[in-house]
Amino acid sequence: MEKKIAIIGCGSMGKMLLEKIINSKIIPEDNLFVANRTLEKIQVLKEKYKNMHICRTNKEAAENSDIIFICVRPSDIKTVLLEIRDVLDNSKHIISLNGSILFEQIETVCKNNKISKVIPSVTAEVNESQTLVCHNSKVTKEDEIVLNKILGTFGKVIELPENEMGMGAELVSCMPGFIAAIFNEIVVVAQEHTKIPEEQITNMLLNTMMGTSKLMLENKLSFEEVIIRVATKGGITEEGIKVIHEKLPEVVKEMFEKTLEKRKLTTENAIKAFNS
Ligand SMILES: NC(=O)c1ccc[n+]([C@@H]2O[C@H](COP(=O)([O-])OP(=O)(O)OC[C@H]3O[C@@H](n4cnc5c(N)ncnc54)[C@H](OP(=O)(O)O)[C@@H]3O)[C@@H](O)[C@H]2O)c1
Repeated sequence: MEKKIAIIGCGSMGKMLLEKIINSKIIPEDNLFVANRTLEKIQVLKEKYKNMHICRTNKEAAENSDIIFICVRPSDIKTVLLEIRDVLDNSKHIISLNGSILFEQIETVCKNNKISKVIPSVTAEVNESQTLVCHNSKVTKEDEIVLNKILGTFGKVIELPENEMGMGAELVSCMPGFIAAIFNEIVVVAQEHTKIPEEQITNMLLNTMMGTSKLMLENKLSFEEVIIRVATKGGITEEGIKVIHEKLPEVVKEMFEKTLEKRKLTTENAIKAFNS
């Protein structure tokens, strides 16, 4: 791919993105322009990635690129946009990695630009991200294809309307944490009933999760169909599932109520900070 890419902000997300793009080789290393508030942090990276460009300013990175990934905290996004705004002609595609700042806010600084929002999940580390993406009205089909190719280097890409990005993030971005919390409880309680070592219990659960996912995806099974397959009438699994059906809905309901409320508050605060 011949596109030039800027990564502004090289913290946890920016660095992950940079390494995935370089390792995938879809873009030559010298098509990458990286900027970070603390310059020393990216100067170290230059030892490993000799051909990429270390930029002294965000403006320099944006000026030289077609696609500009903004990987800074929400409180720093406006500062970055104001710094680069003079070099943003209409052909440049801005990608924000923050879910809370809306297109509406970004467009107050970059009125005529193509803008997309991208939310990767932690599973990007093993190239299994389910990256959420949404675009403003200026983004063309061709821009989408190029962006999907870049994001596809570390997993699947899921396009959603902007107003569904919140719930989308609960389902793919928060979910690894929710799954870990649920299974951690299972490990703790299972240990009260067995002498199987913790590590072995964990591996049994992880492999069962992976196998169940594979079974469902390959055979296009629903969760209900798996329950029917495993829980024979009057059997042992059925007893456990009865408890889950009785007790879990209340927990899940409260979990989403709390997370969505927190998300709403975070968005409101991010918008306030952006507008101040
Ligand atoms: N972490 C996640 O799992 C995750 C998942 C999805 C989305 N996101 C979103 O991704 C964005 C980045 O998150 P993160 O976790 O990568 O944050 P982070 O680790 O704190 O990294 C932010 C980076 O931005 C740099 N920076 C701050 N202000 C800057 C400026 N004015 N110009 C250039 N660089 C600047 C910081 O530089 P210094 O070296 O000076 O600190 C730091 O390296 C956030 O909006 C977050 O909401 C994060």
